[in-house]
Amino acid sequence: MPGGTTRTTTYFDPYPLYITRGEGCRIWDADGAERLDMLGNYTAMILGHAHPKVVEAIRKQAAQGTGFAAANPVEVKLAALLCERVPSLDMVRFCNSGTEATMFAMRLARAFTGRPKIARIEGGYHGTHDYAEVSTHPDVVEAGPPDAPIARPDSIGTPRWALEQTVVLPFNNPDAAEAIIRREGPQLAAVILEPIIGAGGVIAATGEYLERLRSVTKELAILLIFDEVISFRVAPGGAQQLYGVTPDLTTLGKIIGGGLPVAAFGGRADVMELLDPRRKPNVAQGGTYNGNPLGMAAGLAAMTELTPDVFVDLNRQGARVSEQLSEVFSSHGVHAQVNGVGSLFAIHFTETPVVDYRTMVASNKKMTRDFFLGLVNHGVLMAPRAMGALSTPMNEQDIQAFIDAVDSVVAESRPIWESEQV
Ligand SMILES: Cc1ncc(COP(=O)(O)O)c(C=O)c1O
Repeated sequence: MPGGTTRTTTYFDPYPLYITRGEGCRIWDADGAERLDMLGNYTAMILGHAHPKVVEAIRKQAAQGTGFAAANPVEVKLAALLCERVPSLDMVRFCNSGTEATMFAMRLARAFTGRPKIARIEGGYHGTHDYAEVSTHPDVVEAGPPDAPIARPDSIGTPRWALEQTVVLPFNNPDAAEAIIRREGPQLAAVILEPIIGAGGVIAATGEYLERLRSVTKELAILLIFDEVISFRVAPGGAQQLYGVTPDLTTLGKIIGGGLPVAAFGGRADVMELLDPRRKPNVAQGGTYNGNPLGMAAGLAAMTELTPDVFVDLNRQGARVSEQLSEVFSSHGVHAQVNGVGSLFAIHFTETPVVDYRTMVASNKKMTRDFFLGLVNHGVLMAPRAMGALSTPMNEQDIQAFIDAVDSVVAESRPIWESEQV
């Protein structure tokens, strides 16, 4: 495997971790070292690892078969649960990754509107297909002015036409975003965004921004897609419920699979009906493992555990963690922004509040790397970009251990940061 891993996002210098086991909020690597898992497979493991109810559901289903060339009753149950909880979902379809969910949602929007282009947010993340790997982390020198960003490829091999069909919007700047949407309107099939940017730094949209996008897309008959692959964990009905803004389509992933590869996209019935095979022509969405009973059983078990009270408790704990983190940094005189929403948080080493990609990317890279590696050595795993997510098995002692580890890392690193004038 190039780089020794099979996933760009799990590689880090000098060498990545190899995890052999997880239980609750703890993970063990191949050397036997135990760590507190503050990332939970990039926010997917909201119930922690090997949750007994999820394990039991997987065990039971595995014994009955893991995949058939047919629909199954478990997918019907999970579909019903999701449609009940998520305001925008009249209908839903399953797939296997967030990448597929955004790819199909974009295709569906093109089919419904007959228009070619997709608008997305600079610094947002929608997975790894060609139309997703655009302007998620561009070099700002090449990315144009902040209020009129240029589409930039995130990977070599991204086709030119993917860039030509992508319109990039600034986050949290409603006037600039509206002006671009109006200019491109007749060509735009959809505007896709994370209402709370997740992997790109836990940056919440303002209510005004989402409402503006909602009203201008509605006026111009452009579909609004909320990518809630990460933000679905902030409330039983996701960020759309929290903000009271309903998109036309929604993409889901991570927590809905209980730790197995499950994702979904859904929304307005008149749009989703284009996928109905009885229609000719229709939107194609194949997939050997779409809705496979194993993933559906794990997802159903996990989602059933996630009652409204669980979200309240987890979010309360999240608010406390963000507060405690801010206190640690200020007690050491280190400039850091702690962005927290619900049970998600990210640490940015900068003096300026982080409200979009340009303010996020200005954070100090050396400090972020030292902080991340310091935590790895102090028994905690976060994302290399210093993003984290809480899980339900975490108790007061676990949170205190995390805060203590952060305190130790900052105490050890500060003299180095000062001497290097980073
Ligand atoms: C908002 C968002 N959309 C899509 C994806 C892609 O999901 P996957 O990694 O399952 O392909 C991710 C992954 O982190 C994500 O955060």
